[in-house]
Amino acid sequence: MYYSKPIKLQPVKTQPFTDQKPGTSGLRKTVNTFKQTDYLQNFVQSIFNCLPDLAGSTLIVGGDGRYYNREAIQIILRMAAANSVGKVILGQGGIFSTPAASHMIRKHKALGGIILSASHNPGGMDGDFGIKYNISNGGPAPEEFTEAVFEASKKITEYHIAGIKGIPLDIIGEYTIDRLQIEIVDSVADYAELMESLFDFPKIKQLLTSDKFTMCFDGMYAVCGPYAKKILEGQLGAKEGTVIRGESLPNFGGCHPDPNLVHAKQLVDLMYDAEETGSSPNFGAASDGDGDRNMIMGDYFFVTPSDSLAVIAANAHLIPAYKGGLKGIGRSMPTSQAPDRVAEKLEIPCYETPTGWKFFGNLLDDGRITLCGEESFGTGSDHVREKDGLWAVLCWLNILAERGQSVEDIVRQHWAEFGRNYYTRHDYENIPSEAADKLILNLQNNMDSLVEREFNNRKVITADNFTYHDPVDGSVSKNQGIRILFDDGSRIIFRLSGTGTGGATLRLYIERYVKDIKEHDLDTQEALYDLIETAELIANIIGFTGRDEPTVIT
Ligand code: G6P
Ligand code: ZN
Repeated sequence: MYYSKPIKLQPVKTQPFTDQKPGTSGLRKTVNTFKQTDYLQNFVQSIFNCLPDLAGSTLIVGGDGRYYNREAIQIILRMAAANSVGKVILGQGGIFSTPAASHMIRKHKALGGIILSASHNPGGMDGDFGIKYNISNGGPAPEEFTEAVFEASKKITEYHIAGIKGIPLDIIGEYTIDRLQIEIVDSVADYAELMESLFDFPKIKQLLTSDKFTMCFDGMYAVCGPYAKKILEGQLGAKEGTVIRGESLPNFGGCHPDPNLVHAKQLVDLMYDAEETGSSPNFGAASDGDGDRNMIMGDYFFVTPSDSLAVIAANAHLIPAYKGGLKGIGRSMPTSQAPDRVAEKLEIPCYETPTGWKFFGNLLDDGRITLCGEESFGTGSDHVREKDGLWAVLCWLNILAERGQSVEDIVRQHWAEFGRNYYTRHDYENIPSEAADKLILNLQNNMDSLVEREFNNRKVITADNFTYHDPVDGSVSKNQGIRILFDDGSRIIFRLSGTGTGGATLRLYIERYVKDIKEHDLDTQEALYDLIETAELIANIIGFTGRDEPTVIT
């Protein structure tokens, strides 16, 4: 279909907004904020203004299908036309999971991509919306770029938009607006092909079609449902109904699309059902709003994201894509040190980065790491430059198919060999930003005095605010979280979330390493009780926030 004439390209005058600073993962605000006149347009133009090679380039565009996705895409297409973009490749219906978008950028050697998502934040009219730019390696833009966009957004005086009617987003095909080509493609096909090239699909199929194995994948009414249905039920022969909550809904069914023990309740109940009915699936998994996070469960068994990364690394040789060995592992600073022990055994480096997937980009591009992960339910590899929920599920399925053991047995054997890193995260959500800032400032001011002090029979050996020196480009990222390290290897970490849209969230991360197999059966909260107590005391959480308990424990 052709729109023959160039259509009204005069710049539109606008006023800057002062709050368009991207957070950990792009600009995230409420839908209502995005719906303000010119709000999205200003931010998109600010991105375009920071891309000197935009004219004639190819961009990938897609989102997680949340409320406002379609409207935002129409605006972006009209702005792309008016800003001389050469080609936009768009997922059908405006849909791409975040890892699929990353793959499309790489596959088509695009200049970059615009991903519309607020990840695991709730959607719907009263929920959140988000937009982020990914660069040509397929990964989130580095801080230098997002800072430049923020600066541009503060100075913007006009934007360019073509006055054309909407493009039919649901029909696969090619369109032309003036000099802009738009190609609408199947949202799943290329990603599914990539997965098939990494894993042993016939072996996984054998497992999924055997009558001894059942699994449940919770799509959380988010973007991953259609991907999981096509790959797990379609290509790999899992029984129909394996994928629950598999339709993508603009409001995620009114639920919070975050795959953790609190929000994936239906899956968790099913997996913990066994005691009573003996009928739980052998394997359970869930993914988030935009398909990049994952949660892994066995029958009556939860695998922490940190352990999941460690187990995948230790068993990577069983997966075709990684059988040649791993170059290294990356983990974010608050993630447990379980992967470090695997790296040590494999004699490969383990890098500790700040929170945020973008920090893995350079390490992956430079060939220093093959696998990486974060405690925040993100796991991935060098196949794309985003974390990848379904990829993690396929890693586990491939390992389960090869080892023929249960999830629990595999993890317990792992602990027996490497020791267990008990791990928990306590979130204090929605506290006033001022109180949160004061709490962190107080910790910062007092951390030097903690060194050498003893708390519950542990001595503090280091207390600092984590600074990351990127070994590839030499950039330095400061103030990435307060770390208190003890002489027995235990750690307490405090940081403020960078992804919320209202108030502040204090995250408290606690870890304790236990080598002795006789102590691998403790309840996590009990195993960490005295460290939790120490953390609450050191930070005076109750004094600063008035909260005597966290809102979410994972
Ligand atoms: C997003 C990023 C992750 C990061 C997480 C941290 O999901 O993609 O890389 O780990 O945010 O969120 P937080 O709320 O702790 O800043
Ligand atoms: Zn996400």
